[in-house]
Amino acid sequence: MNYVEEIKNLKREKNAVILAHCYQNIEIDEVADYVGDSLYLSQMAEKTNADIIIFAGVYFMAQTAKILNPNKKVILPNLNAGCEMADMINLQQLREFKRKHPDIPTVCYINSTAEVKSECDICCTSSNAIKIVDSLKAKKVLFLPDRNLGKWVEKQLGNVEVITYNGCCPIHDELDPQGIKETKAKYPRAFVLAHPECKEEFSSQADYVGSTTGIINFVKNSNEKEFIIATEKGVIDRLKRDYPEKEFYSIYDKPSICNNMKLNSLLDIYYALKNETPEINVEPELAKKAIKCINRMLEVSK
Ligand code: 13P
Ligand code: SF4
Repeated sequence: MNYVEEIKNLKREKNAVILAHCYQNIEIDEVADYVGDSLYLSQMAEKTNADIIIFAGVYFMAQTAKILNPNKKVILPNLNAGCEMADMINLQQLREFKRKHPDIPTVCYINSTAEVKSECDICCTSSNAIKIVDSLKAKKVLFLPDRNLGKWVEKQLGNVEVITYNGCCPIHDELDPQGIKETKAKYPRAFVLAHPECKEEFSSQADYVGSTTGIINFVKNSNEKEFIIATEKGVIDRLKRDYPEKEFYSIYDKPSICNNMKLNSLLDIYYALKNETPEINVEPELAKKAIKCINRMLEVSK
């Protein structure tokens, strides 16, 4: 069976939209309506007129889309696609963190559960984190779960103390700062582009730090020919496809892979559309609380 054609037919028949994160398996782009970073995909989820949203991403992304669209069917093709960082903080741990640091505004990275979002003041993604923290005009903010993104924002702004929860994305956090030196020694003309989920000692050596879309746009607008890409392999695959005249390398020539992001396959998407399952649901009372910090982020990001 030609799954690409079948998926396209089912999409038309059922008025469905497919949103895909740029860490997804690259063949998913053939059926996706929108491909991008977490902010772009939440903005598309908010705007869509489709009846069914197929979210080719991880659980927290589909959950956010459902919170924004309580009356639509939101489907995550592979229900096992979680996020190790989002799982690093639960509601109890959030309450404990806030108890230790009372009366400070709380910013949660979108990579968090609906329960956690429901007790935070505002949400952010890697592409708007600086703007979101700055919008609070506070001397101190609590930031969770990603300590690396939080500390990177603190350094960029320079006028706010960012108190971070001790979470991280294992895939980015393990990137070795020494790896930049060694990979640059091998490819001396290459520009280093890194995601802010990398450690401070790592990203401080990069030529550019930004979200997945930020990295892709940097390449698009640059005259440079060689790049070391410090983020998940999906970004490198798309860059190689779209800019065959340029060279892209990984740290130590070893691409980073988020196994959760790779779980959704074309076959899963086909069955997800055909059977309209596995559906993501969020209890309405919880969704009502969690939507506040998501809407506040979308408002500030306009
Ligand atoms: P962005 O696409 O927002 O840069 O996020 C990266 C990520 O880790 C998503 O899980
Ligand atoms: Fe979560 Fe990291 Fe995978 Fe993104 S790359 S989904 S932050 S584990």
